[in-house]
Amino acid sequence: MYCTAYGPGSSIRFVVPGAILDTAPKLNCRAKRRPVLFFKMRATDKYTPSRIVERFAEQIAHAAKGFPILDVACGSGRNTDVFVRLGCNVICLDKNLSQIESRYSQETMPSRLKLLKADLINDPWPVGVASVGGIINIHFLLPNLFSAFAESLIAGGYLVIETVPGCGGNYVQLPKANQLRTALSHMFEFEFYKENPAGPAACEAVTVRLAVKRKSNRESPSQ
Ligand SMILES: C[S@@+](CC[C@H](N)C(=O)[O-])C[C@H]1O[C@@H](n2cnc3c(N)ncnc32)[C@H](O)[C@@H]1O
Repeated sequence: MYCTAYGPGSSIRFVVPGAILDTAPKLNCRAKRRPVLFFKMRATDKYTPSRIVERFAEQIAHAAKGFPILDVACGSGRNTDVFVRLGCNVICLDKNLSQIESRYSQETMPSRLKLLKADLINDPWPVGVASVGGIINIHFLLPNLFSAFAESLIAGGYLVIETVPGCGGNYVQLPKANQLRTALSHMFEFEFYKENPAGPAACEAVTVRLAVKRKSNRESPSQ
């Protein structure tokens, strides 16, 4: 949901409780006498999908060729929902499935969902080779998993990653500039890659949003 808040000298028209401000200022050149800065606000809650997921969802679903989409560290399943609506089967992977389980009873759980419980730090990777058509990895970053992602994705399948936002002390868990590009480049073709600096400049931390496609050769990550 979007709402518009007008900038200096004017009042916010309405505010949704819990809204996260998307505060990129824009110049409203259509104002009659003088330009007015306005801010686009996006009200988000734990069920609002990530924008990059929404943006690439149809391409991801198409490229999946009927294989399931894997939502890594799915949380509430807000990003899973997008693919269920598109008619995809989705594997929801998390070490704690309580958030997504709490949304459904046994009767209302969509048949397209498969819940998979695993601790991605301590357990073995639980997904088979070339068994998923797309991977969504939002707000949970473990670069050590990239080679497992590449093994599990079919050729041409999408991997979409979004790091946590760069607010507060988050920069300590964010990657360095170009770290993710370098780590993925031999296994994936880049379709979209966007970094933004976060935290103190000396840390060189960046937020990253990316969408990449599994290369068709199944070379090992070390090659
Ligand atoms: C910030 S939430 C993000 C949830 C979801 N991807 C989203 O965008 O809404 C992080 C998720 O990672 C899961 N998680 C944290 N550590 C994990 C681990 N070691 N293995 C698997 N999941 C983990 C948490 O349970 C939580 O659901």
